[in-house]
Amino acid sequence: MLRGFFVIFLLCAIAVVAVFGFRGQKTTQPPSEIFPDMVRQPKVRAQAPLDLFADGRGPRLPVAGTVPIGYEMPKPNAAAGNGDAGLPGSANPATGPWSHPNAGFSEGTDYYNTGKMGDHWGTGIPVPVTPELMERGQQRFNITCAMCHGATAAGNGITKQYGLATVVTLQDERIRKMSDGEIFNTITNGKNTMMAYGPNIIAPDRWAIIAYLRALQRSQNATVADVPEDRRAELDKPVSPPPATAK
Ligand code: HEC
Repeated sequence: MLRGFFVIFLLCAIAVVAVFGFRGQKTTQPPSEIFPDMVRQPKVRAQAPLDLFADGRGPRLPVAGTVPIGYEMPKPNAAAGNGDAGLPGSANPATGPWSHPNAGFSEGTDYYNTGKMGDHWGTGIPVPVTPELMERGQQRFNITCAMCHGATAAGNGITKQYGLATVVTLQDERIRKMSDGEIFNTITNGKNTMMAYGPNIIAPDRWAIIAYLRALQRSQNATVADVPEDRRAELDKPVSPPPATAK
């Protein structure tokens, strides 16, 4: 019984040494890999040539007209103020797309870039809240937040139906009372199961989104006191259904 074990052990030991060899041995053969993972893969290394393309270059130039994330589209006519410089769908084509002098990603340690005032979350929108800012915020919110948090931030975006169960409503008391700076930080760095959007959304857009989110929160928690007095009579009128859209 014990002898059988030793024989098997010896055979195994010989097999292991035969396959892997002694340490310190020099060989030109590639070492045997039990799990090669992605050590060797067909890929183009930086600056390496590649026959696939006519010019023989591996690294490719960006397609002409590529606009890096965070940069504005060129606005040839904006300065002249003569019309069509806006992005398609821009509500204000006369002034071109919304732009901000500080259109970068977080690059400082001040409130504008971090949401923090000293060691604490600050609050307040550090840029002028204009109709353009709100419009920009609405557009950016609908592009980057609504699919999860819903168009009214009620936590009922489309991703919920596809299994992203942890999406929260931004309409509850806690988020309504949360400081703007903390929300800025959540957008920038993510929170628990929400990933970071800092690399995708430039800092001024994050503030625009927060300004719009505050409007959404106010709209969903409005009282009669929020309606100007001379328009309160309209509240009793039935709301007309939205016009039917052709499909
Ligand atoms: C891919 C889905 C997704 C997108 C897109 C998304 N979120 Fe979230 N968000 C989540 C999830 C999931 C949570 C809940 C995180 C947790 O606590 O696990 C959350 C939580 C939050 C919270 C609450 C954080 C807290 O302290 O509890 C805020 C505020 C928020 N999101 C704002 C935003 C804003 C603003 C945007 C758009 C820039 C956005 N989110 C885009 C999924 C998303």
